[in-house]
Amino acid sequence: GYDREEAEAIVAGLRHLEGPLLPILHALQARFGFVGEEAVRTVSAALNLSRAEVHGVVSFYHDFHAEPTARRSLKVCRAEACQANGSDRVAAAFEAALGVRFGETTRDGQVSLEACYCLGLCAIGPSAMLDGRIVARLDEAKVAALAEEARL
Ligand code: FES
Repeated sequence: GYDREEAEAIVAGLRHLEGPLLPILHALQARFGFVGEEAVRTVSAALNLSRAEVHGVVSFYHDFHAEPTARRSLKVCRAEACQANGSDRVAAAFEAALGVRFGETTRDGQVSLEACYCLGLCAIGPSAMLDGRIVARLDEAKVAALAEEARL
């Protein structure tokens, strides 16, 4: 989790740099896995910037996450062809197996469940992707196995 003293030490170690904002944000992102509200406050105070300015930079770059991200990502295709192949049922089964809705992360921070729109395997859908590995022809057994694997 986030530790303010540690964040302040990181900021103090880099603030003398010319153009310190990005190096500081990178260091905070690397250390804590996200640059949240508290970190933004610490950085803006140390660099004499408004919170909005720091916020703007955090949300502009894809490298920075404003919230902790899950260790694994499970993306389920919700596009048309997969829908015709029963992806709604598959989606509901994933929600039930993980205990979250789409767009949410399991409480232990392990898995985020997201919708995606076409993985290029329309003919053999419904499809999903766990950390970049695509699984097609999802049925009940495969959903259960994939959800199980995601939790490990
Ligand atoms: Fe799902 Fe193309 S619509 S893979």
